[in-house]
Amino acid sequence: MKLSLHALTIALSFLAFSAFAEPGENTYKQVCAACHASGVLNAPKLGDKAKWAPLIAEGQVTLTAHGYVGVRGMPAKGGNPNLTVEGFSDAVAYMVNKAGGNWKTPDAKTLAAINKEIEARKASLNKKP
Ligand code: HEC
Repeated sequence: MKLSLHALTIALSFLAFSAFAEPGENTYKQVCAACHASGVLNAPKLGDKAKWAPLIAEGQVTLTAHGYVGVRGMPAKGGNPNLTVEGFSDAVAYMVNKAGGNWKTPDAKTLAAINKEIEARKASLNKKP
């Protein structure tokens, strides 16, 4: 009895760790945490509500698109050239939600708007003043 309860506990905690990871959590840990956990180059830290509040106010489309293209010390795609817009969006939402926001995995319409804003942002950055 004792043994099987123990096994059950292990099985449950394994499930909690794998199946119930929040969207974006794994990408955050693998790609973003290197800077956003400790605030490297002044990156807004995970859970720092004061730093994230003005970013959250930009809205999901703008913030996700501009982050994906790269902003100052923030490298494009978080520095991972294989990271998709979908994967990046979830990682942004994960950090936003840890700082008091309530963003979801973007639906098709929001994703289309993010992709459009990515193209607009790239075009405006390529323009010489
Ligand atoms: C090499 C370090 C580094 C990595 C890795 C990194 N970031 Fe950043 N990030 C930064 C820095 C630095 C800033 C602050 C940029 C500034 O405002 O000067 C930033 C800012 C941001 C912002 C706010 C952008 C804005 O418009 O001000 C978002 C969103 C963001 N990061 C998301 C992510 C996500 C999602 C990942 C992982 C997929 C990630 N970052 C990985 C360094 C990093």
